[in-house]
Amino acid sequence: MSTSNLQHLYSKSACCAVPSAIREINKLVDLPGMKSLAGGWPDPAVFPGQEIIRITNKLLKNKAGKALQYGATEGVTELRQELAHLAADRYGIACDLDHIVITAGSAQGMDLACRVLINPDDVVFVGLPTYFGGTGAVMAACGQLQGVAVDDNGLNTRQLEDQLQRLKKNGQQVKGVYVIPNFQNPTGTTLSLERRQHLVELAEHYDLVIFEDDPYGDLRFEGDHLPPVISLDAHGRVVHMRSMSKTFAPGLRVAWTIGPPEMIRKMVVAKQFIDVATNSLAQYILLEFIRSGQWAKRVQLNNQHYKRKRDFMLVQLAAHFPEQVQWNQPDGGFFIFIQLPQTIDAANLLAEAIEHNVAFVAGEPFFIDGSGAHTFRLSYSQSGETVIAAAVAELGKLIKKRLK
Ligand SMILES: Cc1ncc(COP(=O)(O)O)c(C=O)c1O
Repeated sequence: MSTSNLQHLYSKSACCAVPSAIREINKLVDLPGMKSLAGGWPDPAVFPGQEIIRITNKLLKNKAGKALQYGATEGVTELRQELAHLAADRYGIACDLDHIVITAGSAQGMDLACRVLINPDDVVFVGLPTYFGGTGAVMAACGQLQGVAVDDNGLNTRQLEDQLQRLKKNGQQVKGVYVIPNFQNPTGTTLSLERRQHLVELAEHYDLVIFEDDPYGDLRFEGDHLPPVISLDAHGRVVHMRSMSKTFAPGLRVAWTIGPPEMIRKMVVAKQFIDVATNSLAQYILLEFIRSGQWAKRVQLNNQHYKRKRDFMLVQLAAHFPEQVQWNQPDGGFFIFIQLPQTIDAANLLAEAIEHNVAFVAGEPFFIDGSGAHTFRLSYSQSGETVIAAAVAELGKLIKKRLK
């Protein structure tokens, strides 16, 4: 096929969208022999393959007409009912059917939310650092990003308040705040209860929407679950994205978004023109998986599995990384965030690490202001203990060499 030069014909949205830095890393991760702590994907060892085979066989025998058919854009009604119960019983989110749309991954939930809420140049605040899937969706809607520091208690809402005041004085249209409240990607930090409450107050005061992206909330290894931001909000200002990717099977692409009914209706209309509906078979499989009690058991099993891996990585870090390097101990999720001394650049370190067949994600792409050069993200979710041990030992050696 001949190449074309149609730059002038592309839409504003296509020009605003930028590729994810993680995709580039994923290409390296697949190289033979690469010891990777880069990908934040779940461990296939805990995928419920056998249960999915059993459920699928049963469905295809008894319910093929429904499971293989197109479905309603908002999702399978019984699944939405089940999820409404789960939301109330497990997360303390009071909602019914009208508050829920099933999406192809929470990534689609974020995309739909941005489509219905963001006008070109609307400002959305995000963490420094934050997950680039979230920032990418805002940018694809031609929104503008502003950064707020993330510390041990998550997004710094005092700093957010100062910035909101400043932008308001300048007459800029701020639309919302994107937040990952639990075991944030990439830092592993959790937003404190006080800050959750403060965030809700700020949203009401400054007329904002909160994009609450919570794919890791079920993966808590210790400590008490904190109430979701949406459960603290009395004004319908939160759009809350949950995912089954980390506790079920990401390849089935089933997730759900909870929000005020009129916002959900608009998201459903937007979704009609994207994919008509989320995969019916996958929704019915998930429905049976939840109804039979297997999902709740699987969450417990996953937590034990990932806790072991987290503990293992922490032991390796303590054994191999020099004292000038700092890291956090997350209470759940998939990630540990590393702070290098100012003399070491994480992108340079990554280039050398790849020559030694070790991969991680350098911190800079997670910072929309271009900072974070001395940070990187490690994930313990996907690789086995042998790879984790060898990769951390190699990285420790490379860092020590740079410190000399
Ligand atoms: C913070 C965050 N949000 C959303 C997603 C996307 O998840 P899903 O598979 O539900 O689309 C990820 C995936 O890694 C993530 O880390």
